[in-house]
Amino acid sequence: MPETTAQTPPARLTAVVTGASSGIGRATAARLVADGWHVLAVARREDRLAELAEETGCEVLGVDVTSDASVEALAERVRALFGPGLNAVVHVAGGALGVETAAEADLEKWQRMYDINTLGAVRVTRALLPALRESGRGDLLFVTSVAGHEAYPGGSGYNAAKAGEHMLAAALRLELNGEKIRVIEIAPGMVRTEEFSLVRLGDSEKADAVYDGVENPLTAEDCADVISYALNAPHHVNLDLVTVRPLAQAAAHRVARHQGV
Ligand SMILES: NC(=O)c1ccc[n+]([C@@H]2O[C@H](COP(=O)([O-])OP(=O)(O)OC[C@H]3O[C@@H](n4cnc5c(N)ncnc54)[C@H](OP(=O)(O)O)[C@@H]3O)[C@@H](O)[C@H]2O)c1
Repeated sequence: MPETTAQTPPARLTAVVTGASSGIGRATAARLVADGWHVLAVARREDRLAELAEETGCEVLGVDVTSDASVEALAERVRALFGPGLNAVVHVAGGALGVETAAEADLEKWQRMYDINTLGAVRVTRALLPALRESGRGDLLFVTSVAGHEAYPGGSGYNAAKAGEHMLAAALRLELNGEKIRVIEIAPGMVRTEEFSLVRLGDSEKADAVYDGVENPLTAEDCADVISYALNAPHHVNLDLVTVRPLAQAAAHRVARHQGV
């Protein structure tokens, strides 16, 4: 009789994805589940998260990244759900508000953009770093933007907020050097998602006009594909900064537009 040996299946990698109720975050959570990860998807709108859970089987939690209490509750849930450690935090929660010039700056919008994109990312990082350390194979992945690297007219508030998030990632990479935690920054250019331009401009006609004449802007799934590659690469390989744009875009404010597209 051949000897039988009991084999324990390899543990699933675990991830928290913020901003998972729409666009890039939603597509990323779905993609990581399809890749075999155990995913906790978070955002404020719990009805949308419930749909995502139904569709993909991921775990969900209502979280506001601008609230200390909410992010503390996230850390508790991570501990309860993932026990001996967390493998990745994917920071997608964020966005732009308005296109005012600096001369016309609405400081309340500047403050909110900084609160969500930069302070939200550092608040979640601070809360979940112990769990990432415990796992022995951790990743902090930040979805910033080309807007954090290149200014454009009407972009200053968003440029500043995303530059803040970029610098957070850069400093963390230095501070965590020597630990088993990769710091990955994915900086997308133009991505056509359902809500990004709508939230920014507050009007669906203006939001649609952003993509007028642009052949194949990136999709949320294109970004999820890059994120999946970065997270699933062997752990000694660190895609520390990836810029991903559609072919039609040469710079944040240089986009080829054709009639009839
Ligand atoms: N679309 C683009 O062209 C583009 C390009 C470059 C970079 N990006 C960046 O990519 C990320 C996702 O963009 P997207 O196009 O997917 O936009 P989106 O569809 O508007 O998604 C934004 C997500 O952030 C969440 N969020 C906003 N405020 C939050 C808060 N206080 N707490 C928790 N979650 C919050 C939203 O969920 P709730 O409202 O349910 O909380 C939503 O799930 C953003 O960081 C954006 O800056 C986008």
